[in-house]
Amino acid sequence: MKVHIISLFPEAFESYFSSSILGRAIDAGLFQPVFYKLHDFSEKKFGQVDDKAYGMHGQVISPEPLSKAIHHVFQIVGRQIPVVYMTPRGEVLHQSQVETYYEHLTDDFIIICGHYEGIDERIIEKYVDYSISIGEYVLTSGEIAAQVFLDALVRHIPGVLGNPTSLEEESFSKKLHRQKEYPVYTRPEIFEGMAVPEVLTSGNHAAIECWKQDNLS
Ligand code: ADE
Repeated sequence: MKVHIISLFPEAFESYFSSSILGRAIDAGLFQPVFYKLHDFSEKKFGQVDDKAYGMHGQVISPEPLSKAIHHVFQIVGRQIPVVYMTPRGEVLHQSQVETYYEHLTDDFIIICGHYEGIDERIIEKYVDYSISIGEYVLTSGEIAAQVFLDALVRHIPGVLGNPTSLEEESFSKKLHRQKEYPVYTRPEIFEGMAVPEVLTSGNHAAIECWKQDNLS
């Protein structure tokens, strides 16, 4: 999976993408992020990429640098590829949609990270295939939202998770009927006077399966 990230602040991705599971996925070549700094596509003085919103307060990301950046990526890849835009106005993300996006976004795709009041609507009309929100609240930057979305997506690439079966049976998975997972425990068996549910230490697999089903929420 190769994702072309158009961002005002590509450095915001550095820490997360160099650590943990995502870092290992990148090192293994399973996930390839490529960054494009929007300022580099500006033709204005000092690389300005935003302007005053018409008819309301605030700044909006101008269409010209975005269009130039998108076409630049299309040219590098050699074809038009899907364009994702992270915005609180988008479709709110759920696990079932993550699975669908994973099927649709297996090769190259673009992610645009929004800022300020957002991007000029004409870019959305002409180029954006998927507008995605990570929840009904407003963040200061689309970069955080893009990292959340990509993390949820990249976990589905075979080889990324140490234990691939954990994908099958986890909160919101199809197998658990999109419900929240049962509680989990580890050693010690008694911690601060609280015991692990007896059934989990019984070795009775059928009973454990029943307990799991009864403890979904
Ligand atoms: N940018 C700002 N807030 C956002 C959200 N909730 N989802 C996606 N992108 C965003």
